[in-house]
This record gives sequence, C-alpha cells and structure tokens, in this order.
Amino acid sequence: MRRLRLLTGGESHGPRLTAVLEGLPAGLALDRAAIDDWLRRRQHGFGRGGRQRIERDCVVVSGGLRDGRSLGSPLVLEIANLDWENWSEVMDPWRVDPEAAAKRAVTRPRPGHADYSGGAATDQLADLRNVLERSSARETAARVAAGAVCAQLLARYGIGLRAAVLRVGAHEVVAGPPSWEGLAAVRADSPLVTPRPDDEERLVAAVRAAREAGETLGGVVGAVVRGVPPGLGSYVHWDRKLDGRIAQALLSIPSVKAAAIGAGLEVVALVGSEAHDPYVLADGRLARSSNHAGGLEGGVTNGADLAVRAFFKPISTLRRGLPSVDLGSGEPGATAWERSDVTAIGAAPVIVEAMLALVLADALLEKLGGDAVADTDRAWQALAERLAPWWQPNR
Ligand SMILES: Cc1cc2nc3c(=O)[nH]c(=O)nc-3n(C[C@H](O)[C@H](O)[C@H](O)COP(=O)(O)O)c2cc1C
Repeated sequence: MRRLRLLTGGESHGPRLTAVLEGLPAGLALDRAAIDDWLRRRQHGFGRGGRQRIERDCVVVSGGLRDGRSLGSPLVLEIANLDWENWSEVMDPWRVDPEAAAKRAVTRPRPGHADYSGGAATDQLADLRNVLERSSARETAARVAAGAVCAQLLARYGIGLRAAVLRVGAHEVVAGPPSWEGLAAVRADSPLVTPRPDDEERLVAAVRAAREAGETLGGVVGAVVRGVPPGLGSYVHWDRKLDGRIAQALLSIPSVKAAAIGAGLEVVALVGSEAHDPYVLADGRLARSSNHAGGLEGGVTNGADLAVRAFFKPISTLRRGLPSVDLGSGEPGATAWERSDVTAIGAAPVIVEAMLALVLADALLEKLGGDAVADTDRAWQALAERLAPWWQPNR
C-alpha cells in the first residue's frame, strides 16, 4: 500500500477487533449504516457456524471522525466480539496461571490452519491457541469495516463494486470470469449469495449434504469493479503493478489459494487472436469488444471493468477431525472440533469487495493525492478532463 495503511488488531475471542486506516483525505463524509451493512453481509451465508448467532457486528468509531467526516487522522474502527463474554477467563490478557494454562492448552495442530506453522514461527507450540486466535478469519471483520470505508471513497468518483459466489464445492453456478451485468441479480437474502436464484436450492442441498457427511466446502467468488479510470497502478516497477497488488490482497484472505484476473487460467487455452480484447469505438469512447484482460494490462487499469476471481479451499476444521499429532505427548490423534463453518463462501464476496476497495482506493489516492477531499475532487476533475474524450467517469 502506497498511500493508505491498514493495520488490524485483536483476537477472535478477545474483547474486540480494531482496524486503523490511515491516509484518507480529511473531509470525506462517511455513512455508518453502509459500514454496518457490509459487516452484516460478512456474517451472512448458509453453512456458517454457531459463532454468527452470537455476534452482531457493528462499527464503533473511536478516532479520526467528527460530524460524520474524516479528520485526516487515523480512522479507528472497532467491532466488539460478543463471544468475549464466554472467553474472558481463557483470553484474559493479564491473568498468569501456568497450571490452568497447561490444562486448557491446544496441542494438536489442525491441518490447513496456521497452528503448527505459526507456532513454529513464534515459539508458541506449547499452546496453539496463542496462534489460532489471531489467524482466525474473524479478523476479516476488521478488514471489511475498513474496506466499506474505502468503497465510500470510490463511490464518490462513480466507482462501484459487485461480488457474488460463482461456485460452491463441485457445484458451478457461473463459469469463466464474472461480468458486471452477470452479478446484478444477487438478492440481499440469497443464502449463498449467487447471481442465479434458480441454482440456490441445489447449492443449499450441497451444503446440507456436506454438513451431514461431516465434510466442508470451498468455492469461487467473482467480483467486478466498474468506473475505474485507466492509468491506476504502474507498468514501470514490479512492486507497483496493480495486478500484483490485487493478487496479494486476494491471496491474503484466509482460505484463498488462487486469484485470477479476467480470463485467468482459461486464457492459456486460447490462441492469440481470441485471447486479446480488440479496441472499438462506442459513442465516441474507446471500448473493448471483450474483456479477457479483466481491466488490467501491463499492471495498469485500462478503463474496462476490473474482473477478478478468488478461489477458496474447503474449511479446514472438520466435525469428525483430521489426523494430527499431539505436540505435548507425541501421540497421534484426531484434531478436536471447535464450533466451525461448513462453508464460509457466503461471507466471501464482501471480503473480496473489501480487499479490492482497499487496493483501489490506495491506487486512486496515489494518483490523485490530496490531504483534503476537496483537493482530491479537483485532481479527479483534472484527470477526467485529461482522459476525455476516450474515457469518461461513470456517472
Ligand atoms: C469468512 C471466513 C470464515 C472462516 N471460518 C472458518 C471456520 O469456521 N473454521 C475453519 O476451520 N476455518 C475457517 N476459515 C478458514 C481459515 O481461517 C483458514 O483456512 C486458515 O486461517 C488458514 O489460512 P489459509 O487457508 O489461507 O492457509 C474461514 C475463512 C473465511 C474467509
């Protein structure tokens, strides 16, 4: 991140999660209800575990905002963990009781989690809870709150985001890269956040069957950003290329094992004349007759819709456990089951949107600058004038 900085803190069963977002221009009006709506979407999805019945995520702002407008100081967003009440003894930050700690220590690393890898990294193999509390995807609530703020900055310039589930386990709903129009039909109450209501029943049945079999599922999320001006990112330096920055942000989401931009993996099977997107004129503007590039060429946005996919592995915690080894006794044994999702794919679209909003807001501010949002507005105006007539803002 070159202009914005995001730091999140807090454990899954600690008192709260905190996001500190730094670098927003001063004077940006924010809508609390919209942030809370994003947090609600992150709790949504058929196949989620019992935790979502306990939590009622909503944002508390404890810095960087006054009269509903950003102050230019770090924006501090907090989300309470209501489950803290049930964990306050186990997670007490100050209590020192080695005997009790040894009794409740988690010593069997769960395959697919950071339990062993993180414990090895930080010398905390004696109690893996010291790792798993932080590596838990509960942290994505803080990212979603920050991402919702970034989306409000993008919306000011006519840049909008959409995301949906394109696949649940083996059940495909939409093949290939997503399109803006293709994601339009997602209803707010869709149990698996898919753009095809007719497929909903089939998907819900698949999740139910997985639950009954003691299994878990992953899936694919597609997202599109519309209204992005050409010229965000860089073709000059490897670490400033926007495709690389987007891929990093998507791969940082827990469970994401692959990220694709535009036609992604499918493009390798095409020949050159099919793979690239011809320039055409549409109402005097420069347009493309296809969008295999997904809105990015050479690490720079090209003005077309930015289309990405994120590929989520199945949830790692299985009700029936997975083979492991107790690091205390050295004995083999199955992992313990702690309340868990059968699939979290219904929560994934808003997390993908949040990460995209963060990276794009960063790239936009890198382009426009501005300590005050009025300065950013003027720079946007100047950019739009410079890009005319080939590109115009989405308003
Ligand atoms: C929204 C969301 C919810 C998740 N819920 C669970 C869960 O309930 N149980 C679980 O074992 N893993 C869950 N995961 C996945 C783990 O957090 C993830 O697999 C783990 O942190 C290891 O990271 P990695 O898969 O990226 O290597 C969830 C992921 C996301 C995005």
